[in-house]
Amino acid sequence: MRSLISIMDFSVDELDDLIHTAMDIIDRPHEYSQKCRGKKLATLFFEPSTRTRLSFEAAMYELGGNVIGFSEAGSSSAAKGESVADTAKVISCYADIIAMRHPMEGAPLVASDNATIPVINAGDGGHNHPTQTLADLLTIYREKGRLGNLTIGLCGDLKYGRTVHSLIEAMSRYEGIKIVLISPDELRLPGYVKKEILDRHHIPFEEISSLEEAMSKLDILYMTRIQRERFSNMEEYKRLKDSYILTPEKLKSAKEDMCILHPLPRVNEISVAVDKDPRACYFKQALNGKYMRMALILKLLEDAACSPVRKTRDMQTVKNLRCQNPRCITSAEQELEHIFKRTDEGICRCIYCEKKAE
Ligand code: CP
Repeated sequence: MRSLISIMDFSVDELDDLIHTAMDIIDRPHEYSQKCRGKKLATLFFEPSTRTRLSFEAAMYELGGNVIGFSEAGSSSAAKGESVADTAKVISCYADIIAMRHPMEGAPLVASDNATIPVINAGDGGHNHPTQTLADLLTIYREKGRLGNLTIGLCGDLKYGRTVHSLIEAMSRYEGIKIVLISPDELRLPGYVKKEILDRHHIPFEEISSLEEAMSKLDILYMTRIQRERFSNMEEYKRLKDSYILTPEKLKSAKEDMCILHPLPRVNEISVAVDKDPRACYFKQALNGKYMRMALILKLLEDAACSPVRKTRDMQTVKNLRCQNPRCITSAEQELEHIFKRTDEGICRCIYCEKKAE
C-alpha cells in the first residue's frame, strides 16, 4: 500500500502518469464521475487551509465519493491529547484514504506508519507539501508545455516554505533545470535542501536577495508568502514581511511568456494589479490542484486495492539519537520513537523532519 508523504515517494514516471490522468479528467470529467462511488476520504486538518482541504473535498465529490473530517485541531480529540498514531488507527476504521495537514513536521509520516489506509501529506509544518507540488507541476506543464529546460526563480520565505522544498525536490529530477533562490539572508533555503537535492542532482543554482536582478532570466517566478505562523520572533517577522512585493512595474523586465506562480494565500507579496497580467497563473494553479488531487486519490486507492499491505521502511536506520528540532512531531509526542536515517553522504537525519542529528 502506498502513501504520499514526500514528492520523492513517486518516480518521475509516476508523476507523468498523474499529469496525464489529470489532463484526461479535464477533457472527459464524466468518465471519472463515479470512479470513487462508495469510498470515503477523511480530511484531517490540524492547521488552517482553504485550497488544499476544499480542493481535496471537491476532488472526492467529483469522483463520486464522500468526505468526512475536521478542519481544526480543536474540534478533534487531539484537543484532549490523542496522538497522531491513535488518530490514524481510528480513522482507518471509518475511511478509505486520509489527507492530513499538521503543524508538526513528520506528523503525516507517523500517520502512515500507523494507518491501514493510504495517507496523503497535505502539508506538515515548514517541511513538505507534496500535493501543492502536484498542482505546480500540472500548471507548469499546461502553461509551458514541458517540465524540463526551465529557469525557475523561487522568491520569499525559502527557509520555512514547505511548497518550495517539495517543488525543488520534484524539479531536480528533470533535465535542464536552473534555480534562482531569491530571499533575505534570514530566510535562505535550508542547507540540507541545497546539499542533498540541488548539489546531488548537479542543479545549477544561485542565491540572491534582489528580485529585480533575477527577473529577466526567469521562465517561472514562484512567489511565496512570508509566513507569520512560522516565526517565533515577531520583530523579525515584521522586519521581513514586506521584503518582496511584485508589481506591474517590476514585471517590465520579465520575459513575455514568464509564468507567475504562487501557492496562495497571498498577503501583499503580489499586488492585485498583477492579477490581470496574462502571465499570472496562480488562480489556474489552484484549479489544477483539484485535478491533480483527483488523479492522486484514484492512484492511491487503485494501488491499495492491488497491494493492501503497508510497505516496511527500506532504509538504514539509527535509533540511539534524539531529534532536537522543536518543530518535529517527536518533540510533541513523548512516546514516539526517535528514528534517524543515514543518507548517502553518511549524515544521520530524523526520518520525520529530516533535521540533522546534533
Ligand atoms: N496552497 C495552500 O496550501 O493553500 P491552503 O493553505 O489554503 O491550503
